[in-house]
Amino acid sequence: MTPPPTEGSLPTALVTGGGTGIGRATSMLLARRGHPVVVNYNRSADDAASCVEAIAAAGGRAVALQADVSDDAAARAMVTDANGQFGPIGVVVSNAGTTEHLAMDDLEGATDEIFTRLFAVNVLGAWHTVRAAADDLRALHGAVVMVGSIAGDHGVGSSVPYAVSKAALHGLTRSLAHALAPEVRVNTVAPGLVLTRWWDGMEDRARSLVRGTLTGRPTSPEDVARVIADVAEAQAMTGQIVTVDAGQTL
Ligand SMILES: NC(=O)c1ccc[n+]([C@@H]2O[C@H](COP(=O)([O-])OP(=O)(O)OC[C@H]3O[C@@H](n4cnc5c(N)ncnc54)[C@H](OP(=O)(O)O)[C@@H]3O)[C@@H](O)[C@H]2O)c1
Repeated sequence: MTPPPTEGSLPTALVTGGGTGIGRATSMLLARRGHPVVVNYNRSADDAASCVEAIAAAGGRAVALQADVSDDAAARAMVTDANGQFGPIGVVVSNAGTTEHLAMDDLEGATDEIFTRLFAVNVLGAWHTVRAAADDLRALHGAVVMVGSIAGDHGVGSSVPYAVSKAALHGLTRSLAHALAPEVRVNTVAPGLVLTRWWDGMEDRARSLVRGTLTGRPTSPEDVARVIADVAEAQAMTGQIVTVDAGQTL
C-alpha cells in the first residue's frame, strides 16, 4: 500500500449543500481548520455567497459552486471546477439532502414521484459526488463523510421515503468504504433533530423533541459540524454510522 501524501497544506474540502444549516457550519469549521472549501449549492446562491464571505473574512479560502447533485453531469463538472480552483479534493462532505413531510401512515401520499425525487438527491446525489471525486480522494488518501439521519437507522422521520433514502445512504456508506479501500475512508454522521431551516413552521414539534432527548438541549449545526470534521480526520474509522442526537433515540 502506498503511504498517504504528507504535504504541509490541507487539501480541498467539498461540502454539498454547504451554504446553509449543517453544511454551512461544516464549511466554516473546515475552513478554520485550514482547508480551502468548495461551498456547493443548488438554489441557495445568496446563502452560499454569504458563507464564502464569512470564511474569507475569517482569513480562510472558499468558493461557491452551483450544482444540482442529483444530476451526474453537474456533479462531475463541479468537481472538475473545484479541482481547477483549489487543487484536488481530499475531503467530501455529502450533506445535500431534501425531504417531504408526510405522516408515516400516509401510504398513498408517499408517491413514486416523492420516492424518486428524494432518492435522486439523498442517495444518487451522494453517489454522483463521491464517484466524481474518487480519483482525487484515492490520490490524496482522503475521506468522505455523508450526512445521514437517525431516520435511516430507526425508520421514523419526516416521511417513509425520507427514512428509506437515508437508510440507503447508510448502506452506500458501507459499500463505498469497501469500494474505495484502502486509500479512502467513508463514514456517515447521522444527526437527530438539529435546529435549522429544515424545521421552519414546525417549531413546536421541534421543541417537544428536544425536551425528549437525554441532554434536554438542542443540537446545533455547529455540534454536528464538529463531529463531521473529527470523523473526516479519524484515520482508524471507515464504514461507520455515527449517531449525533443528544440521546434522542436512546
Ligand atoms: N435538521 C435536522 O433536524 C436534520 C436531521 C437529520 C439529518 N439532517 C440532514 O442534514 C442535512 C442538512 O440539512 P439541514 O438541516 O442543514 O437543512 P438545510 O439547510 O435545508 O440543508 C439542506 C441543503 O441541501 C442542499 N440541497 C438540496 N437539494 C440539493 C441538490 N439537488 N443539489 C445540491 N444541494 C442540494 C440545499 O441547498 P439549496 O437550498 O441550494 O438546494 C441545502 O443547502 C440533510 O442531508 C438532512 O437530511 C438534518
